[in-house]
Amino acid sequence: MEKLRIMSVFGTRPEAIKMAPLVKELKSRPEIESLCCVTAQHRQMLDSVLEVFDLKPDWDLDIMTPRQTLSTITSKCLTGMDEAIEHLKPDMILVHGDTSTTFAGALSAFYHQIPVGHVEAGLRTYDKYSPFPEEMNRKLVSAIADLYFCPTINNKNNLLKEGYDKDLFITGNTVIDALKTTVRKDYHFSTEILNELPYDEKKICLVTCHRRENYGQPMKNIMKALRQIAEEHADTELVYPVHLSPVVQEAAHGELDGLANVHLIDPLPADEMHNLMARCYLVLTDSGGLQEEAPALGKPVLVLRRETERPEAVAAGTVKLAGVEQADIVSMANELLTNPDAYAAMAHAVNPYGDGNACRRIADAILWHFGRTQARPEDYPGA
Ligand code: UD1
Ligand code: UDP
Repeated sequence: MEKLRIMSVFGTRPEAIKMAPLVKELKSRPEIESLCCVTAQHRQMLDSVLEVFDLKPDWDLDIMTPRQTLSTITSKCLTGMDEAIEHLKPDMILVHGDTSTTFAGALSAFYHQIPVGHVEAGLRTYDKYSPFPEEMNRKLVSAIADLYFCPTINNKNNLLKEGYDKDLFITGNTVIDALKTTVRKDYHFSTEILNELPYDEKKICLVTCHRRENYGQPMKNIMKALRQIAEEHADTELVYPVHLSPVVQEAAHGELDGLANVHLIDPLPADEMHNLMARCYLVLTDSGGLQEEAPALGKPVLVLRRETERPEAVAAGTVKLAGVEQADIVSMANELLTNPDAYAAMAHAVNPYGDGNACRRIADAILWHFGRTQARPEDYPGA
């Protein structure tokens, strides 16, 4: 029997980190030809992930230009995907999450009448403009997809409520699969400053921030809050790998340059980031991926957003929504930096997002869909 040609499409850093273990799992299956098409919506940040996970794309659309608009990304992806599909002739296309690459990848698959598997399906805030444009991207992909790989039961329930009731699988999040391959106790950083941080003497706060809906005043507030935290807590060191978006670079450097206990550094390779997270005291972030990784590593998270589509760790008590007002962020950080009981209450490892076997379940579900195995995979039991 011919091998199934399963093409994973991704373009940004988080999609790559979360799809890398799946591309590998699919490669390990004798029934599958695992193909990888990158849009390179991100260039440097994507290439770094490809290097860490030793992935070589079969097709590279190479679409990134500085300060690209949503329309440019989407239209370039659509045009480029035509060629990739004609050349690689996939039987199924897998997209991940909610980026412009995700939406364009799914839409392109639809135009070519190729079935779509949506990895990380069913996340919702029910606010059209927050996160922007991700909430709409993932809703549109739900309408196109044929197979839905939901990280948690909550994600599955969101889809059921919207009337999607066929081929929903609860798999856990593939980010936990990735994390299991990168975090090591004896890890030695190649970014020298990370080896030199006083992990035992000071409270290392890991910071990231990049969301489009935070551009402008919210991001200004966040940066001012970070400055205040650094100035008021001499026993902290803030480590902030700054996203390459020029908007974020300007906001971060404009407010935080010159503070002795704030380290603005280049984006970190995924393995460095995961091991830094495993050693830090606290995470302040508006990232989606960090909200999933940090709880698994037992690190409290303050989310620099007004809402989250990841309520599971909030319910488990390890993540709190801090919002985007300076005073709120500072007061919630103060609590965690000065009250050991409040810190202890949040600093316990929880794994609502997976057990590290999401990719195995997704590969099994794909084989089941094509009738190559009789057994439908069991749902992830922990969610
Ligand atoms: C994108 C996704 C967002 C995801 C984020 C992860 C969309 C609309 N947004 O947002 O959902 O959370 O990625 O990081 O899909 N840049 C570089 N080099 C890089 C990457 C980015 O220079 O390797 C700069 C470019 O100037 C680019 C800008 O960053 O124009 C913004 O990148 P873009 O992909 O448009 O949006 P993100 O904010 O990264
Ligand atoms: N990450 C990384 N280096 C960094 C910052 C983040 O490897 O300097 C990883 C992080 O551990 C997570 C993913 O990138 O796996 C999250 O990406 P990002 O925050 O850019 O996007 P989001 O998850 O919000 O879509």
